[in-house]
Amino acid sequence: MTTQPPKRLANRLHHCLENIWLDFTRCKTKYSEIDVGVGLPDYPPSEHIQRALADVAMEGNTYLQYTRDQGHPRLVKAIAALHGPLLGRDIDPMSEIIVTHGAYESLVTAFLSLVNPGDEVILIEPFFDAYKSMTKLAEGTPVYVPLRPSVESPTSSADWVLDPQELENKFSANTKLLMLNNPNNPIGKVFKREELEMLATLCIKHDVICISDEVYEWLVYPGAEHVRIATLPGMWERTITISSASKSFSVTGWRVGWSIGPKELIDCQMISHQNGDATCATPVQEAIARCMEIELAKINQPCCHFTQQRTALLSKRNLLIEMARNAGFKVCVPEAGYFLLVDWTAFATREMIDDGTNIASDFQFAIWLLKNHKIATIPPSAFCEESKDTMSNYVRLCYFKTDELLNKIETYFASLNPLKDC
Ligand SMILES: Cc1ncc(COP(=O)(O)O)c(C=O)c1O
Repeated sequence: MTTQPPKRLANRLHHCLENIWLDFTRCKTKYSEIDVGVGLPDYPPSEHIQRALADVAMEGNTYLQYTRDQGHPRLVKAIAALHGPLLGRDIDPMSEIIVTHGAYESLVTAFLSLVNPGDEVILIEPFFDAYKSMTKLAEGTPVYVPLRPSVESPTSSADWVLDPQELENKFSANTKLLMLNNPNNPIGKVFKREELEMLATLCIKHDVICISDEVYEWLVYPGAEHVRIATLPGMWERTITISSASKSFSVTGWRVGWSIGPKELIDCQMISHQNGDATCATPVQEAIARCMEIELAKINQPCCHFTQQRTALLSKRNLLIEMARNAGFKVCVPEAGYFLLVDWTAFATREMIDDGTNIASDFQFAIWLLKNHKIATIPPSAFCEESKDTMSNYVRLCYFKTDELLNKIETYFASLNPLKDC
């Protein structure tokens, strides 16, 4: 699925031509009737969140002009108030936070401002695919370390673990960054305290900076505990913690994200941000600040947006799991987030779906599912390098969808015949 580079494309971007989202959008548009592929909500958040932006837009000139480059003052203050207790410290809103265009820009500014050519970046796979291209954009070298199933047939995201020896062997004198995604996309794993302690020990030993992408922080389901790596001894000073309004407030189109960390690291990101994007949109920052203040006042209560969203998604997760199981899929129950990995190998042999191209079998199954059963999913081997073979037994389904759409899937699943019935 690699595209030919446009003739004038700079060399530094040639590694970015393989883009799973573009490939699937093209294919999906043609065949899909049920889209549980790309990870975004198909319905709006609560009215008060939408109204916040509408109100700001109508309040005269103040919020229609540039604001502070490092982050709108009201928003950085709200982020500090919300995240200070979560990170167990007082956060200086003016020097320890930067607001960016989504978590995406927080990530890219971190990579561009911290990685030198040849520096090694440890990527725990499966990983959010942008990490690999951002490492290469910064001329760093990705070093992959897979999460592997600890049992033959994983039934929970907790069954995916790091091999301590393999992990330790990946750290070297050239390691600059550890990229952690906790909770993880696409598995939905929430790293246990002991696992984070193992990572922290290695970061401290090798003087490595940790970027901790925690965008799914508010979507951790009962039974799992989200420990923030920046709270472990010796880690605040070497960690950038990233989150965003996309996942916290279900407004992926508002493009507001932020990084929290020691001034020394935030200053580095700021240099990249100021010379690339400069300022994020004032009205959306003001609107998110107002929403955050409202949620902060009712934090952890049933009426808080974060609690309501988690409760709603937990029931959607359980609904999709039940339907997938009834259809004959083996499922890997996520502890967090809004993605479900289902093992498709009960439905088709690799021969059945072989389309003669040499691409991974999860891509072939996803295309087969799309063309024959009109269901759009995402093949997760795109999120791996070293564990593609294990991951290619799965496809990823997103359940941040209306119950109406989720219920419709049942009918589509019913047209699938597990192999045993063939
Ligand atoms: C793990 C992870 N990090 C970052 C992002 C990007 O988030 P944002 O919309 O805030 O840029 C996503 C989006 O899907 C994600 O899954």
